[in-house]
Amino acid sequence: MASISFKNVQKTYDGNVVAIKNIDLSIKDREFMVLVGPSGCGKTSILRILAGLEECTNGEIYIDQKKVNDLPPKDRDISMVFQNYALYPHMSVKENISFGLKSRETKGFLHRLFHSKEYKSIMNSIETRVQKVSKLLSIEHLLLRKPHQLSGGQKQRVALARSIVREPKLFLMDEPLSNLDASLRLQTRTEIIKLHKKLGITTLYVTHDQIEAMTMGQRITVMNNGEVQQCDTPENIYQYPANKFVAGFIGYPPMNFLDGELSVSKNEISVSCKDIKLSLHHNNILKNKILEKIPLGNKKIILGIRPEAIYDTIESAGGWPVENNSFEAKIDNIEPLGSQNIVFLKHGDTTLVSTLNPRSKIKEDQIKHFFINLDQIHLFDATTEQSLLYPLKSESHI
Ligand SMILES: Nc1ncnc2c1ncn2[C@@H]1O[C@H](COP(=O)(O)OP(=O)(O)OP(=O)(O)O)[C@@H](O)[C@H]1O
Ligand SMILES: [Mg+2]
Repeated sequence: MASISFKNVQKTYDGNVVAIKNIDLSIKDREFMVLVGPSGCGKTSILRILAGLEECTNGEIYIDQKKVNDLPPKDRDISMVFQNYALYPHMSVKENISFGLKSRETKGFLHRLFHSKEYKSIMNSIETRVQKVSKLLSIEHLLLRKPHQLSGGQKQRVALARSIVREPKLFLMDEPLSNLDASLRLQTRTEIIKLHKKLGITTLYVTHDQIEAMTMGQRITVMNNGEVQQCDTPENIYQYPANKFVAGFIGYPPMNFLDGELSVSKNEISVSCKDIKLSLHHNNILKNKILEKIPLGNKKIILGIRPEAIYDTIESAGGWPVENNSFEAKIDNIEPLGSQNIVFLKHGDTTLVSTLNPRSKIKEDQIKHFFINLDQIHLFDATTEQSLLYPLKSESHI
């Protein structure tokens, strides 16, 4: 098993492409850490640097407190699973799984020793390991097939088996599910999590899919532009995003953002966006929190409202006085998802997205009042985009 830490790691390709700016990151022993972020933010570069396939330009990488910058890949005891499973097409599933093990464990064996007891015992132990891992991944019945006789999901399980059979102390997975269709993704996602629970191998899992990140990670590291934006549990990342990027990246449909001004005085605290005005001073906790953190006066902010913080009845929105938290909007479009409806609301020039119960009696083109639960709003500094105010329930978190 292994813990990992990156200290001030930077990577520049060809002297001018800055892929990783300044990464400090620790992964605990036996942890399942997900690295998530948009395309090109540096995720694969981090994996390749950790595996030793790429050198970092600056900084230090430790596995179990041992600096590994100069350790060759083969000595790092890491196994990597890629998006394209890269199985050997001419070999059977069984040969694909055992190939790496055989070549590693019989390296240096002379041909004349092939009939020796020692050689046979190595082969027997490899056979046992292959059987065990095939059972674990439910591919025992596929062992004699060639890769072209397998479905995408089966190929992916063979690729996983090939990595697991090595019993590495660290697993790196780079978007391993992106070639699978929706239902197979879901199924394989669950299998990978179960495997991790069973084997407890420290895993760094890369995806650009925030739902995969939320459902799989014990902790999530959100990256953008070669930098770590936030590293925390899925729940904390969702509830208490550190900045606008994280708030917008995690959550579907994404958080609504409105540019506006926060006005703070002793008697009145309000947020004015172009078409929406919210009065915040009625709630003592909210008021005290703002007075404590934000100086008196006016400040340019970005108001963040998650789709589920917009309601179609005043009661469900926390019972705030109507004049403080409501706005009138036209229902532009309703996308039914079964368990909930995604509803697009037009208020002046502003479009807001909300998620409403499918039983709510609303119709497209209808004009009605909607309500924002003020306990659930986020405020971000308009310049730095850092979070100024989390939802109220986060009181204990700050
Ligand atoms: N070998 C390379 N030579 C030059 N630039 C590279 C090389 N590999 C990656 N880059 C650049 O470094 C940046 C980070 O790339 P990286 O592959 O780490 O991103 P990623 O987050 O894995 O993206 P994706 O989600 O698309 O796989 C990108 O701008 C990319 O173009
Ligand atoms: Mg990548």
